[in-house]
Amino acid sequence: MQSTERPEPHKTIPFDIWETSGSTEHLGGIYATQRLVESCCIAPGQVVLDIGCGTGYTASYLAQKYQARVVAIDISPRSVEEARKRVFKEGISHQVTILQADAHHLPFSANAFDTIVVESVLAFCDAAQVFLEMQRVLRAGGVLGVNELTLLKPPPEELITLLTGALSIQSFQEREWRSIFKSGGFVEVVSTAHRFNLWEQLASHIRVDGVRGYLSAMVKGLADVRISRVFINRNMLRAARKFLPFVGYGLYIGKKAKGIQDQEQGRNR
Ligand SMILES: C[S@@+](CC[C@H](N)C(=O)[O-])C[C@H]1O[C@@H](n2cnc3c(N)ncnc32)[C@H](O)[C@@H]1O
Repeated sequence: MQSTERPEPHKTIPFDIWETSGSTEHLGGIYATQRLVESCCIAPGQVVLDIGCGTGYTASYLAQKYQARVVAIDISPRSVEEARKRVFKEGISHQVTILQADAHHLPFSANAFDTIVVESVLAFCDAAQVFLEMQRVLRAGGVLGVNELTLLKPPPEELITLLTGALSIQSFQEREWRSIFKSGGFVEVVSTAHRFNLWEQLASHIRVDGVRGYLSAMVKGLADVRISRVFINRNMLRAARKFLPFVGYGLYIGKKAKGIQDQEQGRNR
C-alpha cells in the first residue's frame, strides 16, 4: 500500500479544480450513487452523514428519495457554497445541513449517525484517519457506504507516481480497500468493482448540471493555468489512454461492529 503522507489539501490540483469550477463528481456518477445508497438500506427519518458532499447532489437525493435527515460536510468553501445553494433552491433546508469541516476531524459526537455515505473523498485523504473518525461518529450497527477510485489490476509504478504526484490521489485495489474497512473496525463488508465508462460519466454530469452548467465548469477549470498545465499536455493525454483500463471505482458497504459501541460505553462508565 502507498504511504499516507499527504500535502495540505488546499495546495493540491484537485482542490484547485473544485474551487475554480464550482463542480464536483465521482466515478460512476449518479448511477453509482443510486446503487450505493440503495445498498445502505436507509429508513425515513434516519440521520445520514455525507462526507465530502461537493455540490450536494447526493445529500439532496438522500433527503428527497429516502426522507433522511442529512448532515453534509466538505472542506472546500466553494463546494459548501454550491451545496447550500442547491439545498435552498430545492426547498429542503429543513432536512439538510451543510457544514464546512475536515473529514479527518469530524465535529460530531460519538454514535451520532445511522449511516455515512462517502463518494470519492477518501482517495484525497489519510484514509486510515478518516476511518477512525467515521467509526467514532457512526452508531453501532450503522452502515458505511463508500464509492472510491479503485484500481482494477496491479498498477505500474508510473501510474502510481502520476496519481500521487500530480494529482495527490491515493489509489487502492478492491482487496486493499476491503482491508482498510476491516482494520477500521467495519464488518460484513460487501464490495463490487466497476470499469470507468466515459458515456455514463458524461450523461450523469449533464443530468446533474445541465449541458450549459457542465461546459461552464469545464471552461472555468481549464481557464486556470495551474490546472490546464497539468491536464492539457501530450504526456497526460498519452497517460490517460494508456492507464484508463486500470482505473475504475468500487462500491463498498460495511457495518460498524456492534461490540465496538458496547466496549466504548463500557470504557465511559
Ligand atoms: C471528487 S469530489 C466528490 C464530491 C462529492 N462527493 C461528489 O461525489 O460529487 C471530492 C470532494 O471531497 C472534498 N474533500 C476533500 N478532502 C476533504 C476533507 N479532508 N474533508 C472534507 N472534504 C474533503 C472536496 O472538497 C470535494 O468536494
